[in-house]
Parts: sequence; C-alpha cells; structure tokens
Amino acid sequence: RPIINTDEIEDKGNFDYYMLKEIYEEPTIIEKTICNFTKNHFDLTRYNHVDIVACGSSYHVGLLVKYWIEQLLNISTNVEIASEYRYKKLIVQDNSLTIIISQSGETADSLAAIKIAKILKIPTLAIVNVIDSSIAREADNIIYTKAGKEVSVATTKAYIAQLLSMALLIENNKALFEGLPKELSHIIDNKMEDITQFAYQLYQSEHIYFLGRGVDYAIAMEGALKIKEISYIHCEAYAAGEIKHGTIALIEKNTPVIAIVTDNNIREKTISNMKEVSSRGANVLAITNEDILDFNNKIIVNKLPMIIQPFNIILILQLLAFQIAKLKGCSIDKPKNLAKSVTVE
Ligand code: AGP
Repeated sequence: RPIINTDEIEDKGNFDYYMLKEIYEEPTIIEKTICNFTKNHFDLTRYNHVDIVACGSSYHVGLLVKYWIEQLLNISTNVEIASEYRYKKLIVQDNSLTIIISQSGETADSLAAIKIAKILKIPTLAIVNVIDSSIAREADNIIYTKAGKEVSVATTKAYIAQLLSMALLIENNKALFEGLPKELSHIIDNKMEDITQFAYQLYQSEHIYFLGRGVDYAIAMEGALKIKEISYIHCEAYAAGEIKHGTIALIEKNTPVIAIVTDNNIREKTISNMKEVSSRGANVLAITNEDILDFNNKIIVNKLPMIIQPFNIILILQLLAFQIAKLKGCSIDKPKNLAKSVTVE
C-alpha cells in the first residue's frame, strides 16, 4: 500500500491547493505576529548602513524594505542577490548590518552570504521562517517570521510574514498594523471576482509586463515572479520610467501590461508611462489605491499608509497568479523545475 503522508492530507483542510490555503492564512498570521510583537526587540537605528541579502521572493522583500528603511529611518540601504553578493568584492561600510532574508533558512547562496558577513565581522540579522535552520544558526540576531510550515513551492504567507516582520522592525509601533488582518480579509471576501476577471484576460498570454515606480516597482517584481513560477507565462517587471529605454519596442496591440500605482508621490509619472504603452496598443490593467479615470481596466483597493499599502496589493497579485495558474490547469503547488528550498548553488 502507498505510504500516505497524513500530515499533507490534514494540512490541506478544505482547500484543493496548499497555495490558496496558505494565502487564506495570511490575516491570522498577521494578527499573531502583531500580538507577539515587542517594542525595541532589535534597534535598526544603531547602524549607519544596511545590506539586505537574499534570493527570489525574499530578495523582492528586500527591494521593497529598502524604500521603507531609507525613507523612514534615513539609513542607507543596499539590496543584493545572494549569488552575486557571495562572489563580488565587498566594500565594508562602517557600522553596517547585514540582514539575510530567507523563508527556508537553507538557501545555499544566502547561507554562504551570511558566512561571508561573519568572516568580515559584520553584525548579522536573519529574518527566517524555519526555526533553527542553518541561516538562523549562523546569525548573530534572529527574527522568526512564524508563518508556519509553507508547503506550496511558491511563497505567499511567508513573503507577507517577512514583510510584516521588517515593517514592525522599522516602524516599531504595532498599533499602525492592527487593521491589516481585516483589510486582507476584505480583499479575499470582496475582490475575487475582479481578480478572476483579470485572470481571464491574462491566462492565455505569452508575455506579461509589469510597471511600477518606487515601492510599486518592488511589488511588481514579486507579482511577475508569482505568475512566472506557477503558470509558466513569461513576465517582466520594469521600473515604469525605464520601459522607454528599450523594452517598449516589444509592446504591440493587446500586449498585457499590469501597472501597480499606489505610490502617491510619483503616481502621475506612472500614469504617463501607462498612457505611453496604451498608445502603442497595450492592454493596461491597473492595480491601484485611487481611481485612475483614463483607465477602465482596474482593481482599486483601499488607500493605506505607505508602510501598510503593499500588503493588500501583494495579496491581489498572489491571488491573481493563483487564478491564472488554475485556469491554465498548472501544477500550482509543485511547479516544474522548482524546489521549495534551493540548497545547492
Ligand atoms: C518563492 O516563490 C520562490 N519559489 C523562490 O524564489 C524563493 O523565494 C527563493 O528560492 C528564496 O528562498 P528562501 O526564502 O527560502 O531563501
């Protein structure tokens, strides 16, 4: 008789896919993280410079957090892909901190990176989900994201938990986040129809382009990866102002372009980039926090403070990727060629 992994059966509950179950867990994970947060448990402001080193979706968390650290704490922040960091010449800044972000805590390149930081006597902080993982054991300081076991290869709840752990570390005030679980539940309860409508427009595409500026660009990077890794559609995320420096040559009639527009300081610039691609025939789908009158194809979410806003956008993009992959009949929880943790170079 085949050995049945009862954990897996129990884990899935009433869900057909681990990925959807794990997305639905996000409001509860946020609630628990906020509840367990203690002020000043690690003080970032002691440092003059921060290097964030990670891979994949964890790297995308770093790209987003960079904007928060620099804008809210005024600390210069550099974000590196771990496989680049480990082989490049490192210029060690005075009084710097290296933060390694990793769900599994076993990613080979990220583990190598933290070992190099230690050899260079740079203080390290690990943001990890798996207790007592190799990266956790190497780090001087650890923040466990406590998202619980993440089975689906494409990360969702762990990404959100990493982002929240960093947001709380930066803001050091949990009151700001107390409405977030309700906000995400609201998205799950009320936006699935809009998201599915977007998915129908996108699931037969060969190429999808994402545009965003500032934090929205970092969000776009994760949105592109999510669709790529579970539906095998080629996606590219671009800093919106960069599209005209070459890639706009690929835009033709009906090319789908997903625009993330929430950063109020530069929304007009992003909107003008949307008009540029639209005038070349692109089918622009906007995910935004304020009505964009010139565009009908849009999902509008609540406008939230800068350090809270990305969460509802990321959730929309996770659900969008899931719906697209489902329409394509893909193996959502175990995409081809991918492992949950890349423990080899
Ligand atoms: C996540 O959706 C990806 N499957 C992958 O990019 C992952 O984020 C990357 O391999 C890093 O893994 P880690 O967070 O466990 O270090």
